[in-house]
Amino acid sequence: MQKKIILTGDRPTGKLHLGHYVGSLSNRVNLQDKYEQFILIADLQALTDNAERPEILKQNIIEVTLDYLAVGIDPKVSTIFIQSQVPELTELTFYFMNLVTVPRLQRNPTVKTEIKQKNFGSGVPVGFFVYPISQAADITLFKANLVPVGVDQLPMIEQTNEIVRKFNSTYEPIFVEAEALVPKDAGRLPGIDGQAKMGKSLGNAIYLSDDADTLQKKIMSMFTDPTHLKVEDPGKIEGNTVFTYLDYFASDKKTVMEMKEHYQKGGLGDVKVKKYLNEILQELLKPIRERRQHFAKDISYIENIVRAGTEKAKIKASQTMQEVRKAMKLNYF
Ligand code: TRP
Repeated sequence: MQKKIILTGDRPTGKLHLGHYVGSLSNRVNLQDKYEQFILIADLQALTDNAERPEILKQNIIEVTLDYLAVGIDPKVSTIFIQSQVPELTELTFYFMNLVTVPRLQRNPTVKTEIKQKNFGSGVPVGFFVYPISQAADITLFKANLVPVGVDQLPMIEQTNEIVRKFNSTYEPIFVEAEALVPKDAGRLPGIDGQAKMGKSLGNAIYLSDDADTLQKKIMSMFTDPTHLKVEDPGKIEGNTVFTYLDYFASDKKTVMEMKEHYQKGGLGDVKVKKYLNEILQELLKPIRERRQHFAKDISYIENIVRAGTEKAKIKASQTMQEVRKAMKLNYF
């Protein structure tokens, strides 16, 4: 039986962080043997809000690929490729644009939030505004069944499936709807400052590549309960980032529960809890960091992986585009 297909990806605007790890990287690693997995490095999508800084992309494509290999993505089973090097993605985006209305895009919650965050105001670039359509092309060109992503990407998959239905009913039913795969508890890892989301631009991220010292410093600076001033004071668990992280990363749930009770009663200091989290995260990230350092010694190997992945992606892309042009009656002569 043919394996089902995963298409997923990231914008190469920086190194990947723990939010990426819990959001989708761990799912990708766990599923790579069961599915045929394509991982797209979304440089075109990154350009939609970095048009004046294309020079950041090349280095970040390498960084992101290093992060993939470091967490355990196996290039022998997963296909890592670069969006801009598969022009069929751009072609399909252009066809899809006719199937989406302006108000529908304006309603996309992810785009709405990002437009606010990035302070575009009414000066939002057209390319940025339509990037959900390009993302729909990413997913459908590979006929993906499953898309492992963080929760903030759910509206993208919903919009993709609308486009699939519209295309299939307008032309011929060649595309399949995709299912989003979000982390188990559908939660979102907060930043170390307690903000709802970890992000590079928010300056509150723990990177997979952070060295042991940086990691420890970040953990020690984490947001806890601002009213928990003295060790003997009772402390709050809700909104306490250190405990939120323990819920995500500690495998010894019993100890975490005891710590929570102790903390709420009073008598357990922040430093102790942070030290416990530090132990756990050091253990998680050490092998990842070491693998990353190992792969970083040979950048030409990394380039070869991405080059080979892109070649493979192009084959699938050109097959689907032939079907698309036929369905749309664009195969004139
Ligand atoms: N939008 C995703 C992000 O911001 C990146 C992305 C581009 C993607 N195309 C995709 C994710 C297709 C999943 C599927 O990180």
